[in-house]
Amino acid sequence: MDYKNKVILITGASSGIGRATALALAKFQNKIILTARRENLLQEVSKEITKLGSDCITFVGDGRDESHAEFVIQEIVKKYGKIDIALLNIGIGPPSNTLTSSAKTILECMNINYSSLINFYVPLMRQMKKQKEVCMISHMNSLATYFGIPMQGDYTASKGAARLFLETARMELEHFGFKHIRIQTIHPGFVDTDAVKNDGIPAPNQISEDEAASLVLKGIKKEWKENRFPFGTALATRIGRIVPLWLRTKILLSETPKNF
Ligand SMILES: NC(=O)c1ccc[n+]([C@@H]2O[C@H](COP(=O)([O-])OP(=O)(O)OC[C@H]3O[C@@H](n4cnc5c(N)ncnc54)[C@H](OP(=O)(O)O)[C@@H]3O)[C@@H](O)[C@H]2O)c1
Repeated sequence: MDYKNKVILITGASSGIGRATALALAKFQNKIILTARRENLLQEVSKEITKLGSDCITFVGDGRDESHAEFVIQEIVKKYGKIDIALLNIGIGPPSNTLTSSAKTILECMNINYSSLINFYVPLMRQMKKQKEVCMISHMNSLATYFGIPMQGDYTASKGAARLFLETARMELEHFGFKHIRIQTIHPGFVDTDAVKNDGIPAPNQISEDEAASLVLKGIKKEWKENRFPFGTALATRIGRIVPLWLRTKILLSETPKNF
């Protein structure tokens, strides 16, 4: 769908892919609404967006807090009457170890990656069902969503849950006749953001934040249900899904550091 003169929510926009995508969208006279916890960074992004010719408002809050998400959606609708595109981008993915991580650590990843998606999804869906024009919920998933990956057990589980939930939502929208709502999942490979710099996880074929942002915009324009990039990593993942489990395990372990 077109992304000019739209009302666009981006969650987790204080840094990384969310920030880069917000700045890319700022060149198209949009009304951009940003959320995250780090207020100072949000303010900086907001100023840059205004300079680039779009309006921007920010909401500081934690995506794990259902009332924060409800509040953000209500305020946007009060101000603009609608939401055209929601890019739900909040996520973390620090290296982890399924043999030693605490329950708290494992569940925190699920909470930030999955609960924050659902907290925004529910009021968004309630709102978008009332709208008549084409609108989109786009979720920042990952190519790590399709199978287990050493050092990323809690992360792959949270992204897998999100993928299955939204795949179902897409089917149910069709079943119940809400043809104007698009559900998109975005599956980047490795993107060079501060969050993953020096995290020790092998990152072949890594792309920059700006490259990721332009591929995100391309996917929105084309309304792809699943936007997988970059090509090489997306292809390797596709092959990885069909090879036997023993072979996939061997390949993934060959890339895994001995100590983590
Ligand atoms: N980098 C990669 O290689 C890669 C690859 C595939 C997918 N992804 C996905 O892309 C998304 C962005 O990641 P990134 O690499 O750009 O990392 P990032 O720079 O750390 O961005 C994460 C964003 O989420 C926000 N956030 C985190 N926890 C939050 C919480 N509890 N409540 C509200 N906001 C929260 C952060 O803001 P505050 O800390 O200010 O709250 C930040 O704006 C994630 O969903 C990630 O899984 C990244």
